[in-house]
Amino acid sequence: MKKSIVVIKGDGIGPEIVTEAMKVMDRTAQKYNHEFQFTEVDAGGCAIDKYGECLPESSLKKCLEADSVLLGAVGGPKWENVEKNNRPERALLRIRSEMGLYANLRPAKIFPQLSHSSPLKDTIVQKGIDFVIVRELIGGIYFGSHETIQINGEDHASDIMAYSEHEIERIGRTAFETARKRRKRVISVDKSNVLDCSRLWKKVMHRLSENYPDVEYSDMLVDNCAMQIVKDPSQFDVIVTENMFGDILSDEASMVTGSIGMIPSSSLGSGTNGMYEPIHGSAPDIAGMDLANPIGTILSGAMMLKYSFGMEQESQDIENAVQKVLDEGYRTGDIMSEGCIKIGCCEMGSRIADHIK
Ligand code: IPM
Ligand code: MG
Repeated sequence: MKKSIVVIKGDGIGPEIVTEAMKVMDRTAQKYNHEFQFTEVDAGGCAIDKYGECLPESSLKKCLEADSVLLGAVGGPKWENVEKNNRPERALLRIRSEMGLYANLRPAKIFPQLSHSSPLKDTIVQKGIDFVIVRELIGGIYFGSHETIQINGEDHASDIMAYSEHEIERIGRTAFETARKRRKRVISVDKSNVLDCSRLWKKVMHRLSENYPDVEYSDMLVDNCAMQIVKDPSQFDVIVTENMFGDILSDEASMVTGSIGMIPSSSLGSGTNGMYEPIHGSAPDIAGMDLANPIGTILSGAMMLKYSFGMEQESQDIENAVQKVLDEGYRTGDIMSEGCIKIGCCEMGSRIADHIK
């Protein structure tokens, strides 16, 4: 199969981790006789430096035309004071929105080899951690109007959270369909004791759940969910939630699995073209030092093969290769523990690629 993949390396550790993911994907293409055509485009802080804008139209156009997009990370302290509509993060939000990628899947699964990297007690970890957060990605407070105005001589800021029924319903469907392929349990997370958006969310989810009698459904308040993720993560299979709650809970969920550096994500809309990115940020403090963990990005590549290109076996090969390297005891700094062998980002990528043959 021939596929065109747009690559946004971005800022900070972005270039290093994406290079490793491309290495692994290239090896997979060789093995299975596919042709992955990678086209690099600039977006984020590096695009501000080069062109004065975080997302040049030509970059966006290439994303819209591609079979899928692979992204490293954008942002960093260097662009902290850039005008808000041109911040590196805007590039990411605009691509998500223009591509219509409303469904963001963020798996939180513990690798048995890394169970001692989890900050949770062994007794909790041993019950198993394997759930996925289905985050609504192009609505809610991220995309409502944002404003800072002067009222009575002081600054006044507001950010509007808004949802319509169809936006909730489509992400709900993604969650129920995802659960059907897993352990068939959906928990919808909201703040319906306070927010109108959440009350609507809950109403739509309940209505939708009736179409999925084979899936066990319940809802949970977001503050309680934050607590339950550290208290007993084994209770979760699929969590579906709005944009900002999903942003926050997915960082928490990643950490209970050991390292945020391990977690991939997929963002899809109604078609098969999507964007795939690790859930961590650009980690400017370790950029360019060959210290980053490329596994979250490599596994994002694996998700692309599976979800956008229907390449199940190819995707599984990448996951298996990651498992093998972990079995052999190789670790980047973030997941290092006693008795293991510490390696850099580049060697991690090469070792994973070498297991694909
Ligand atoms: C994420 C990130 C982004 C988000 C930022 C960089 C805009 O935190 O993908 O989780 O908030 O969605
Ligand atoms: Mg985040």
